[in-house]
Amino acid sequence: MQITGNTIFIPGGTRGIGAALAVRLADRGNIVIVGGRRPESAPAHPRIHAVALDTSDAASIERASAEVIAAHPDVNVLIAMAGIMRAEDWTRRDGFLATAEEIVTMNVLGPIRLIAGFVEHLRTRADATIMTVSSGLAFAPLRVTPTYNASKAAMHMLSESLRLQLAGTSVRVQELVPPAVQTDLMPGHAENPTAMPLDAFADEVIALIEADPEAHEIQVERVGFLRYGEARGDYAQVVQALNASDPHANRAADRASLGEDPGEGLRATAGTRAGA
Ligand SMILES: NC(=O)c1ccc[n+]([C@@H]2O[C@H](COP(=O)([O-])OP(=O)(O)OC[C@H]3O[C@@H](n4cnc5c(N)ncnc54)[C@H](OP(=O)(O)O)[C@@H]3O)[C@@H](O)[C@H]2O)c1
Repeated sequence: MQITGNTIFIPGGTRGIGAALAVRLADRGNIVIVGGRRPESAPAHPRIHAVALDTSDAASIERASAEVIAAHPDVNVLIAMAGIMRAEDWTRRDGFLATAEEIVTMNVLGPIRLIAGFVEHLRTRADATIMTVSSGLAFAPLRVTPTYNASKAAMHMLSESLRLQLAGTSVRVQELVPPAVQTDLMPGHAENPTAMPLDAFADEVIALIEADPEAHEIQVERVGFLRYGEARGDYAQVVQALNASDPHANRAADRASLGEDPGEGLRATAGTRAGA
């Protein structure tokens, strides 16, 4: 996407990565509409507007999409940011099934439904962008978050596929691939010293968009460890390092197997290895 001159909708932009990007994009002169269940927590900025929506709910997405298009007919960028991350224990049915369904609904069906709400409108814009959000964990699995990893791998392949279908239209498809970033994605994640500081991440993302508006993937330097293990030929070592070498990982797995939130262990592992 071009770095300026857009009207941008960011469902999941009221907090975290979405909010940090919303502020920077608004500072560059873009109009930004952020969405979330708590629109009142949106960053205060004269060019940022907020709408209420729940991306786990198809009707809410349909209503909010129509509302955004009606109020901001110039909207030409959709950044499908909202997502959740949960630990699971797949050794027993009650350790994962409900969580897995919740994650698929949010992280896979949510973006699909958002794209359905916007694709025809975006095709009427001269220059438009659909930005999906995957993760370094789409490319190397963290043991304690199987459905999350799978949901982000699905976002990667969906992005690759949509780019083929939308070739020749005015709509480009870009995939944001974050490493571990200090946000409230999991409890305490924002304080994890081994995850990337949010401001540094958002600054680097904006610089990458500005440097290459047509990039298929937006990858900060830190995510390369996870993103390119297979291409480098060290995938097995990446997976092993991501999951086993960090003492926090073992603690996280132990706690997850007890049905507890692995919290700090999971966060430290993802952060350390994603940043290596
Ligand atoms: N942080 C990381 O380490 C990391 C790494 C890789 C990828 N990612 C991805 O980046 C995206 C943003 O994550 P984040 O770290 O910024 O998370 P975050 O700090 O938890 O923010 C999540 C955002 O999504 C919104 N949201 C959550 N549930 C929602 C729902 N049901 N309906 C509508 N909005 C909802 C939240 O607003 P409300 O609570 O007001 O609804 C908030 O604006 C996610 O897709 C995540 O998977 C993050």
